[in-house]
Order: sequence, then structure tokens, then C-alpha cells
Amino acid sequence: MDESRLRLDASTAAELAAFDWLREVGSTQDEAFARPLPARGARVLGADRQTGGRGRRGRAWLAPPGGTLAFTVMRGFDLPPRALAPLGPVVGAVLAGALRGLGADVGVKWPNDLVSADRKLGGILIEARGAAVAIGIGLNLDLPDGLPIDQPWTDLRRAGVASPEPGAVLSALLCGLLPALARFEREGLGAFREAWSQVDVLAGRPVRVLAGEAVHEGRAMGLAEDGGLRVQEASGERIHHAGEVSVRVAA
Ligand code: BTN
Repeated sequence: MDESRLRLDASTAAELAAFDWLREVGSTQDEAFARPLPARGARVLGADRQTGGRGRRGRAWLAPPGGTLAFTVMRGFDLPPRALAPLGPVVGAVLAGALRGLGADVGVKWPNDLVSADRKLGGILIEARGAAVAIGIGLNLDLPDGLPIDQPWTDLRRAGVASPEPGAVLSALLCGLLPALARFEREGLGAFREAWSQVDVLAGRPVRVLAGEAVHEGRAMGLAEDGGLRVQEASGERIHHAGEVSVRVAA
């Protein structure tokens, strides 16, 4: 991907401090962490192919070259670490909104799985090392049938974007995300609650929350103040936190 293929508005261009696109890399996350953190704004680092892509909860992220987007947005935040907790749902809501703007039928399964018709369209991995926060984004654009992916999956073409062109999709994602990250730093989760409620595919649905050996059943009730998932259980409301649990729709 050549930077000349990006179409960015002025507020996004002002937030883009560095852009690198590599042919092949282990993980765009590690490669971004290996480069300097910009003094202000964000570094975007992507690759045509990852040989060691990482997913959430220690899983590998396998994506065949071509037909997908894989990139990392790295940025510093002038915030204490605990204020970054809601970043996952915020990024999910902003990216889903940007993809809806392209005509895609997209929602977010808490904390930040991009889904369409309950099938995984893309994933977000947020990691912090010192002052640097790396937001890794993997998105299926147009994939062949029959891939050995171990969960129900879909892509942007199947979600309603007739011919998803990588430069156009990346531009739309960055135009949503880069100004939103600056706004999150200033205003926190409150500025994104409405956006979240528009894309939250779990809201009001029965869920099963797996927390180690424990299984909690209840009804998803939206986001807690810290970005956790509120679940109404028989014993009362419980807040679950990303990284500690995985969530399934129960029916
Ligand atoms: C998930 O498990 O849903 C998160 C997947 C995140 C994958 C992206 S691809 C770009 C970036 N580099 C990585 O190694 N992982 C993220």
C-alpha cells in the first residue's frame, strides 16, 4: 500500500505522524513497537503479509495474504493507564461506524470483535508497552471460500461492500479512528457512548460469559463506566472485563 493511495481529510492528516507499509513482517504490533513513538499524533504501520500475526488472549491471527488488511496504529496518550481501559470498545465503535459509512452491515461484539450477521469480520488487539499504545487491526476484505479458519467468519464483500478496495477502506478507517483517538484522550468514553449503543450487537441478548472455570449466564446490558460489559445475572448485575473473560451469545 502506497501512502499516495490514502484519501485523508485535514483533521486525519494532522493526526498522522508516520506511515509505513511493509511487504512482509512478523507482527505489525512488534514492528510498530520497535520504531519511535511520535511526539504527537499516530504512527500507522501495516503489511501485506504477517508471518506471526497475534490475536487476543494469546491466539494467533491467521490471514492469507491478499484479501485482508493488517495494520497497527501506535500512539501515546496523556492519560493514566486505567483511563485507557475503555479504548477497546471505543475503537470498535469507531471502526464499525466507518465501515457502515462504506455501506457494510457491521456491528461490534464486546469488547471489540467486528462482526456481521454474528460472523467475525475483523479483530482489534490493544497492547501497551511503556508510553506506547499499539492498536492492531485485522480486517477481512474479500476472501475465498473454504479457508481453514476456526470460527464463523465473513468479509467486507459478504457484508455488503461490492468491491472493497484496500486504499479506500484503510482511508475510511483512519479518517474515523485518528481524530477519534485524539477525542478519546480529551473526553474519554462519554463521547462515544452513543456510537457504542448504535453498534453493540450483544445489547439485550442472553449471553454466557466464560471466566476461567466459571460460567456466568445473564443478559448483556451495555457498557460499564470502565468499558466493561454489564451483565444482568440471576444474582444481580455483574461487570466483566476484557482480557479476563470470553463471551458467547447464549441463544
Ligand atoms: C483478535 O483476536 O480478534 C484480534 C486480532 C488482531 C489482528 C491484528 S492484524 C494487525 C495487528 N498485528 C497483529 O499481530 N495483530 C493485529
